[in-house]
Amino acid sequence: MKDKYYDHIIHGGDYNPDQWIDTKEIWDEDMRLMDLAHVNSATVGIFSWSLTEPEEGVYDFSWLDEIMEKLAAHGKKAILATPSGARPPWLAQKYPEVLRVEETGIRNEYGVRHNHCLTSPVYREKVREINRRLAERYGKHPALLMWHISNEYSGECHCELCQKAFRAWLRERYHNDLNELNFKWWNGFWSHRFTDWDQISSPKGRGENHVPALKLAWRRFVTDQHISFFENEIAPLRELSPDVPVTTNLMRLYTGIDYQKLAPHLDIVSWDNYPDWTAPDTLDTACETAFVHDAFRSMKHGKPFYMMESTPSVVNWRPVNGLPAPGLPELAAIQAVAHGADSVQYFQWRASRGGHEKFHGAVVDHYGKEDTRVFKETAAVGAMLEKLDAAVGGRTEAKAAVICDWENSWAVDFYCGYRRDGRDYFGACRKWYRALWERGIPTDVIPMDRDLSGYDLVIAPYLYMLKNGTEDRLASFTENGGTLIATPLFGLVDEYDLCYLGGFPAGRLKEVFGLRREETDALPDGETVPVEFSKKTYAAAKLCDILIPSGAKTLGKFRGKFYAESPAVTGNAYGRGTAYYVAFEPDADFIGAFLTSIISGLGFQSDVKATLPAGVIARKRGDLTYVMNFNNKNTQVFFYKTYTNEFTGKPVLSALLPPYGYVVLR
Ligand code: GAL
Repeated sequence: MKDKYYDHIIHGGDYNPDQWIDTKEIWDEDMRLMDLAHVNSATVGIFSWSLTEPEEGVYDFSWLDEIMEKLAAHGKKAILATPSGARPPWLAQKYPEVLRVEETGIRNEYGVRHNHCLTSPVYREKVREINRRLAERYGKHPALLMWHISNEYSGECHCELCQKAFRAWLRERYHNDLNELNFKWWNGFWSHRFTDWDQISSPKGRGENHVPALKLAWRRFVTDQHISFFENEIAPLRELSPDVPVTTNLMRLYTGIDYQKLAPHLDIVSWDNYPDWTAPDTLDTACETAFVHDAFRSMKHGKPFYMMESTPSVVNWRPVNGLPAPGLPELAAIQAVAHGADSVQYFQWRASRGGHEKFHGAVVDHYGKEDTRVFKETAAVGAMLEKLDAAVGGRTEAKAAVICDWENSWAVDFYCGYRRDGRDYFGACRKWYRALWERGIPTDVIPMDRDLSGYDLVIAPYLYMLKNGTEDRLASFTENGGTLIATPLFGLVDEYDLCYLGGFPAGRLKEVFGLRREETDALPDGETVPVEFSKKTYAAAKLCDILIPSGAKTLGKFRGKFYAESPAVTGNAYGRGTAYYVAFEPDADFIGAFLTSIISGLGFQSDVKATLPAGVIARKRGDLTYVMNFNNKNTQVFFYKTYTNEFTGKPVLSALLPPYGYVVLR
């Protein structure tokens, strides 16, 4: 599949003209305003099922015909949605099985969205049927750019159909052998050996919820059910419009589905980006967002992604929905492009007149005209993006990677022990990522089963679970000259959450790191243990591993508690590479000091030839370098070489970036 689907950065967003069917004259006004806002695309039909199929088997596409024609006439692309995210009332009334059953065993009533059973044959058939009609009608339409499948797939269903499907899934995975399952789930514990597949059901608060292997199996099953639901949705689209790419909009670091497993089924990854720009630390918000961009970019091995939604002003679902400072939405747009997005899209184009989301930010608000601050700022973003055709399809080559694995995040959440509070797997990964991001070093955020051979540095924070040959991949990576960093919890369990025997970390990794982890001390919030490293003292928090070296060099020591003198930072030469172990949860100061020497040893260079002031972040993608000021003040940047300003064509040796300003350099 190609890297580029359109020659320009897509600028547009969710467009729900179906909500305005009673005042259709507004549609022409929408087109006029879209032209003014430099909008080149609209995502249509996401929640339109009750209009297109008002009664079972009765279809009315006349409204969508008109919209598709209008978009085509105005030279705009349509990202056309399948409507499975929300169903019409008649469907649930006639076929109650399409509604979700909660963990309590009680079936939901009709309402909200995302309230469907993933297994229900009726729902799958109805979805396939309407999708077929959409593909028949619009699959070759000149305006059609892409299929947008459903909306933010999420949740799970515990109905009898799903329980049956779960058991069938387990039978397949465990070779129809209950003994195998009993062993892998360690069911001798609390006398849980199953003798009949029907004794197994989904994890529930009032049922089984203390078997981590069951919880892992259920999440894996739910992921596979989503994938097969998705494949069912796209079957008619693939058949009738084989050249039109498909995507589905994903949600940040949502862990209900393994996004890393879903990604290969999509032609292009897209996600909905709603950073909290009103949080006190803008740079932290920017880092969280950058991390997620890089996680999605890495899901398709660096291929550009779409930012399918963002808000041009506010959201309506936080407890308090403050306005982001002017300039920040534009900076967020540039940040997305810098990290690999080929689109800047909003939720939504025109604010709904009623309903739950009427006070959500939109490009066109209830006033309805173009002379608003938000409209003008959005139009300015659109005009700017029109000058960025050179960005489209560009890639970023990263020599550094942080392993941040969805299944590992589940396993880290599920085990009982050490510290039960304050586990923040993604946060721990982000801490390490941040040190590289601030230094302008491009970094991939990858699942554990990724080929590591292209990287020089791999950081594996809290890599508790190892699966699918990860142990060997990490060992060969180091042996072949890579630099590997691990932290507490490293290599404790296999994919079933069974502990490795014979000492941690698993198997060969003890040789790779030249040590064995014997015990782990957990610290309450606020307590730290001093660590001496490179003649300075740092604070170890949360977890401290007591290591028994068998060849590893001690680079830093604990200086407190009964394990003072015990190694806190080690390095071990293995093959042509080095494996470092940081035996505690470090703070940013330690990570900065520790990585600085490693980075310079590896010859890593910042993406930009400049010493970046605090709060200024650079990212190179393709031929362009984006320098972004996340400070709420003017910030001067001096460069070591002369760049060309991509927008003005003028030479640049220094730049005074206004608050939340940026410059794009070639
Ligand atoms: C997204 C969703 C949209 C809209 C938006 C509001 O998560 O896909 O349909 O609800 O949130 O922020």
